[in-house]
Amino acid sequence: MSDAASIEHPAGLTSGDFTAADEPLRLFVAWFAEAKRAEPVNPEAMTLATVDAEGRPNARMVLLKAFDERGFVFYSNAESAKGRELAATPQAALTFYWKALARQVRLRGHVEAVSDAEADAYFATRSRMAQIGAWASKQSAALESRLAFEKAIARFTAKYAIGTVPRPPHWVGYRVVPSEIEFWQERQFRLHDRIVFARDDANAPWTKMRLYP
Ligand SMILES: Cc1cc2nc3c(=O)[nH]c(=O)nc-3n(C[C@H](O)[C@H](O)[C@H](O)COP(=O)(O)O)c2cc1C
Repeated sequence: MSDAASIEHPAGLTSGDFTAADEPLRLFVAWFAEAKRAEPVNPEAMTLATVDAEGRPNARMVLLKAFDERGFVFYSNAESAKGRELAATPQAALTFYWKALARQVRLRGHVEAVSDAEADAYFATRSRMAQIGAWASKQSAALESRLAFEKAIARFTAKYAIGTVPRPPHWVGYRVVPSEIEFWQERQFRLHDRIVFARDDANAPWTKMRLYP
């Protein structure tokens, strides 16, 4: 049986020596573009880690919906477990794993709300069913039965039968403003490459460090 960690995936070796990069955003752009070509399903899926009020970690998958020099954006329900955790502690970590490329990207930093205009614009691009679902789901609350959820969907489908579906006030965007971004590439014999960019705040310059794997 082959050792998965010792296989150098050919798709992972297309972009030259990434450890020479001097700035993380352009490197993320390049890796994300390659992930979109290589990963058949959800290359934008990322693990979001938060902490609750007692300092207990919590993690779940979300989808990256936008990113730029301001940070990395996902959308969710402000009243969900993650929404409550982020309200109490606006700090998060995100991790991507692109299996087909044998690459990992991790970042962490403080979390801020996306503007209402930005959230409205993105909500408007979602399918009507997803928009209705955003109204009908009390994300992370106890649900007595599937039927109760279907009834809520039917109620909101009727309510918004005509015209556009407005964005629910609890359906919000979060932007993780990274203070640290790490790029990890699997290499043969577990001699993986890792570089981490760090900065003191969003306006400070990035410094780069190579880490032992
Ligand atoms: C691939 C994948 C993508 C997901 N994307 C999102 C997302 O973008 N936003 C979201 O609120 N939940 C998303 N979910 C569901 C979350 O993982 C989670 O079940 C939900 O948000 C409730 O989490 P919480 O109770 O910790 O708040 C996704 C799940 C998977 C498996």
